[in-house]
Amino acid sequence: MTTIAVANRKGGVGKTTIAIAIGTKLAAQGHAVVLIDLDSQANATEALGIPPQPAIFSWLGAEEPPEITQAWGVDVLPGNARTEYVNLILSSDGDRGAIHRALRRLRHNYQYIILDCPPSLSMLTRSAIYAADQVLIPTLAEYLSIAGVRQMMDLLVETRQRFERKVQLLGIVPNMYRRVTAEHKSGLTDLVAAYGAWNPNGSSTGRVWPPLRETIAVAAAVAEGVSLWDKLEGQVLREWGAMVERVRQYG
Ligand SMILES: Nc1ncnc2c1ncn2[C@@H]1O[C@H](COP(=O)(O)OP(=O)(O)OP(=O)(O)O)[C@@H](O)[C@H]1O
Ligand SMILES: [Mg+2]
Repeated sequence: MTTIAVANRKGGVGKTTIAIAIGTKLAAQGHAVVLIDLDSQANATEALGIPPQPAIFSWLGAEEPPEITQAWGVDVLPGNARTEYVNLILSSDGDRGAIHRALRRLRHNYQYIILDCPPSLSMLTRSAIYAADQVLIPTLAEYLSIAGVRQMMDLLVETRQRFERKVQLLGIVPNMYRRVTAEHKSGLTDLVAAYGAWNPNGSSTGRVWPPLRETIAVAAAVAEGVSLWDKLEGQVLREWGAMVERVRQYG
């Protein structure tokens, strides 16, 4: 069993898209997966065609058993705007361990627990990193986004040192990459200089995964309410497939 937080304080970098893509593919491959929507925007919930509902609030705020819903072959713990109250409760209690403790009750049912985090360094994100075995950080290959990655790395280090957690960085995923854009090229170079390029032979500790290019398939899947996997083809499909394979192998 592994718990993977998909997190970045920066908004709109592809956290939710990537969390759903990984969760649905691993489930389709026969793994037991639960996707947990920790963002009060409830984007993952809605993207999966599930009506927003206070399942996260009931689970974490009121300590009820989790109300699991199924969509596209994957178990989902959906949320709605009330998830923000959980953040307020955890903040006022100063309690980072609540998600970790709640997950103990789910752990034995799943091979993968995937946490879709909100775009912030809120208590929910901090608690998700505390609860996680591994963190996947989607980012744009742009200057300001790279500052966001650095802050996430600081949070990982703090979580390890202050709370003696063993959370690891699984990977940094440059997303919506445009190889013809000079800013993206130099952004990718900067990321690789700071965190090292992923090496499939495992002989380096590089953590920057090959980029996922920008594709209209993502918007098309959302517009049609279908899985991204129904829309991806060619080289783009291979990029996303390779990302899931990396999660399966190293997650
Ligand atoms: N590879 C991609 N190519 C094109 N569009 C993409 C790609 N990845 C994500 N998008 C689009 O970018 C937008 C942001 O994606 P997403 O909602 O997954 O990001 P997020 O980090 O979860 O956002 P938030 O911080 O608000 O939670 C969405 O409109 C999504 O469809
Ligand atoms: Mg999101």
